[in-house]
This record gives sequence, C-alpha cells and structure tokens, in this order.
Amino acid sequence: MAYCDLPQAPAVVPPGRAGANGAILRFEVEIAKSEPLNSAIGSRFRNLGRLIGNTPMLAIQFRFRGAERVIYAKSEHLSMTGSIKDRMAFYILRRGYLEGRIAPGHTIVEATSGNTGISFAALGRALGHPVVIIMPDWMSRERMELIHSYGATMIPVSRAEGGFLGSIAKAERMAQGRSDVFLPKQFANDANVEAHEHSTGPEIWWQLENHALVPVAFVAGVGTGGTVMGVGRYLRSRNPAVRVYPLQPAESPTLSTGFKVGRHRIQGISDEFIPAILKLDELDPVIDVSDGDSILMAQKLASDLGLAVGISSGANFLGALEAQNRLGADAVVVTVFADDNKKYLTTDLLREEPVRAGYLSPEAELKSFETLKRVCNNCCEFPE
Ligand SMILES: Cc1ncc(COP(=O)(O)O)c(C=O)c1O
Repeated sequence: MAYCDLPQAPAVVPPGRAGANGAILRFEVEIAKSEPLNSAIGSRFRNLGRLIGNTPMLAIQFRFRGAERVIYAKSEHLSMTGSIKDRMAFYILRRGYLEGRIAPGHTIVEATSGNTGISFAALGRALGHPVVIIMPDWMSRERMELIHSYGATMIPVSRAEGGFLGSIAKAERMAQGRSDVFLPKQFANDANVEAHEHSTGPEIWWQLENHALVPVAFVAGVGTGGTVMGVGRYLRSRNPAVRVYPLQPAESPTLSTGFKVGRHRIQGISDEFIPAILKLDELDPVIDVSDGDSILMAQKLASDLGLAVGISSGANFLGALEAQNRLGADAVVVTVFADDNKKYLTTDLLREEPVRAGYLSPEAELKSFETLKRVCNNCCEFPE
C-alpha cells in the first residue's frame, strides 16, 4: 500500500500553521508519526477513516431567470452516518487520542442539535466507548432514534430546562471532576475547524483544479461554524480573493443579532448563540435564506435530480445561488450538501410547503448534474 503521492512531504514539520499543502501534510505526518499503528484503536481509526470524507463533488446544472448556471456541492450526505459531521467527530476523536485526552473506556459526552450526536454515537461505539448525547427535545424523532440505535444514551433537554445552552451546561456538569469523561466541545474546539481545513477544503480545491476551475466563493450554513471557517481558511490559503459567506435562516438571524430570535426549520444550523470558533470578522457578509424556500429547494433536489438531501442542503444551494447573483452568473460557487433526507421523514421536508413571494427555488429549474470524482491529493493511506 502506498503513501499518498504528494511529492514534497516534509521530513520535519514546522511548528504552527503551515499553509496550503503544508497544512494537509502536517496533519498526515503527525498522525503517521504518532498514531499507535499496532494498536487495535489505530486499526479502528484507519478503517473508519475510509468511510468518511473524500466525497464526490456535484456540478449541478440548472436554469435561473433565462440563464444556464452551475453550482458545485460536496455530497456530504454520502458519508458514513449521512452527514458532514463525521469529519469533525473523526478528527476530534483522533486528535483526542493523539494528545492523550481520551483513552479506551472513557465516556464521550456531547451536546448537539443532532447530526453531531449521530456521528459521535457511531464513531464512539465503533471505538468501544460509552457515548452520552444531550440534545434539545424538539429535534426530529429520527435523530433521537438513530442516536439510540447506535447504542448511545440520549438525554433530551426541554426549552424550560434551557434548550441548547442548557444541553451544553449539562454536558459540562457531567464532566466536572471526572478524568474518564471526554467532552469534544464542537462549538469551541478549534480541531473542528481544522477537520475542514485539512480535509473538506483541500478536496474542494483539488476537485475543481482537476477541471481547471478556481473557486470564487464558498457558502455554508453555520451550526458550529467549523465548515465555513475551516474550508474558508484553506481556500483563502490558495486564493486569498475567494469570498466566504456564512449562511443563516432569515426567520432566526442569530448571526446578525448575536442572540437567538424567532424560530426556524433548518435543523443543524443557527442554534441559540454565536459559536466561539466562528470569527465573523474574517468572513464575508452573512447570507439570509428562508426556511420555506430551503424546504422547497431540498424537495426539488430529491424529486428532480434524485439527490436525497436535508433542509440545510436546500438552504446552502440557495445561498450559493444568491452568491452568484452578487458575483455573476458564471461565478464558480461551492457549497456542501451537509446531510441526507432520512432524518427529516417526519418533518415539513416531506409535507407540502407553500410558495411565498421572494422565494428563489421556484425559479431554479434543475436540469442534471455531473459528478466530479473523489481525489487522491489528500487521501493518504498508512501501512497496516
Ligand atoms: C444538517 C446540518 N447542516 C449544517 C450544519 C453546520 O455545520 P457546522 O457545524 O460545521 O457549521 C450542521 C451541523 O450540525 C448540520 O447538522
């Protein structure tokens, strides 16, 4: 089995943040040097890693207001548990092991609005850990049942008990004075950003580069902000002019207000506060997208193109469309299809949604898509 074929792997990795290729190599070399390759846990990480990330990129062709357009979207719904959060969970757990902050037998405890809980439940159990997931009780039933099915313990938290912020506080209380509890802390852990800086970002760059394309903008709905910050950081290391737009639901514009207002139906984004890892001053202006429009767009992606994605993917597609409206119909704009539609079977995604004035989705006539294949510029394999 060969190492990845990046030719210039440095023998000694410089401290601090390396740019561009260095950023990928630093992580891979670090893992290669320090991962306990002979241990059972190292082998489990290697096998899990092959089920996560390195997703195909979809070039979605559509017609909008009389012009042919293309939007690029990473198919994260094809990941191991059906969401982009597998990348972050995998990276945080592997980092935790490398830094000695988690060991076999430790309990993983995380507060989440859903997909993260599913990822930590699946990966945690695959690595042999007890997993406790604390989640607001208004998230979809599918999310709760999936977490339960992965063998994790689910603790629902009501609005009266503090909702999302209450879930985080509960997780922290559970870890107090316990050295055998591992808190991934996805909202505050910079390893969440690094996961995307070292995987999603380079994949996007190379998949486009292989088609002689350079991204002009990247758009992503903000849950923790890991995706938009990490991908943005990497793409800017390659092309400093790239625009990086965070996206929020128009009905609950927490990023603009700084605190929770209103309610929305785009599960996974815009929780109740601005996460610590999100640096809005490093990003371009926030794009607002309506939740009803997002539902209609996600429905269309499934019914017209067979792309079974969740509501935030509809939102991200519309956000990318809005970025093109600002930058030019030909602009190469990239986004992510963050999860699949299976977690929304009991939600408004599968109900009839009324069309309202100002929605963009009715004007987007989806035609077809091309699939840009997985890349091997950063899919290193390590010897058994
Ligand atoms: C469906 C969905 N979309 C988007 C996101 C946002 O990703 P991030 O947390 O990297 O900002 C999440 C996060 O949980 C999600 O579950």
